[in-house]
Amino acid sequence: MQVTTHTCDCEELARRAREEEARLYRELDKIIEKHKEVRGPLIQTLHAAQELFGYLPEKAQVRIAKGLGIPLSEVHGVLSFYSFFNTVPRGKHTIRVCMGTACYVRGGKQVLEKFQQELGIGLNDTTEDGLFSLEINRCVGACGLAPVVTIGPDIYRRVKVDKVPQIIARYKNGNSSAQSSSRRSSRQALTDENSPASAGSDTSEHKSGGSQQ
Ligand code: FES
Repeated sequence: MQVTTHTCDCEELARRAREEEARLYRELDKIIEKHKEVRGPLIQTLHAAQELFGYLPEKAQVRIAKGLGIPLSEVHGVLSFYSFFNTVPRGKHTIRVCMGTACYVRGGKQVLEKFQQELGIGLNDTTEDGLFSLEINRCVGACGLAPVVTIGPDIYRRVKVDKVPQIIARYKNGNSSAQSSSRRSSRQALTDENSPASAGSDTSEHKSGGSQQ
C-alpha cells in the first residue's frame, strides 16, 4: 500500500506572515511620521493606514495613537463616527443595501434579507471565501431609483428580490461584465433596467419595486 506523506510548510507560511506584518508596520511608521506635522493628522493617517492594511486592526490603532501622541480613545471615537473606516477585514466586494426611508418602503429590507440568505451571512459580516461583505447605507441620494444597492463603484437601481442571485453571480464570475465595469473610475449602474432603451419601463419597474414590501 502506498503511503502518501504531506510535509507541512506552516512554519514557512508563519515566517512569511510575520515578515509581511513587520513590513506593513514599518510602512505605517512612515505614514505616521509623514502626517505628524500636518493639521488634523488623525483622519488622514487612518485613511492611509486603511489603504495599507485593508482595514484598521487594533494594533495599528494603538500604533497611530502613540505615534501621533493622542489618546487611543480619540482614535476609537473617530473610527466609530465615520462609517468608511473598517476595524475588521472586509470582503473583496462590499455590498451596501440602502435602508433610507425611500428604499426601505420600496422593498430594501426584503432585498437585504435576500442578500443575507444568498450569501449565508449577517449584516456587517464577510463571507468565508472573503469575496463579499454586507452592509447597509443610509440614503445615497438616489431615492427616485429605490431600492438601491451599491457594490463598489456599481449602482443597482430598483432592485428586485428575485434579481439578487443574478447580481451576486456577476461578482463571482471573474469574466463578468460587472467585474470589468467595477474597474471603471466613476460609479456605474449595471442593471438592464438602467439602459436608455428601457427608460420607458421605469414607471412599472418603480411600482414593481414597491410590491416587494
Ligand atoms: S433612501 Fe435609498 S437612495 Fe435615498
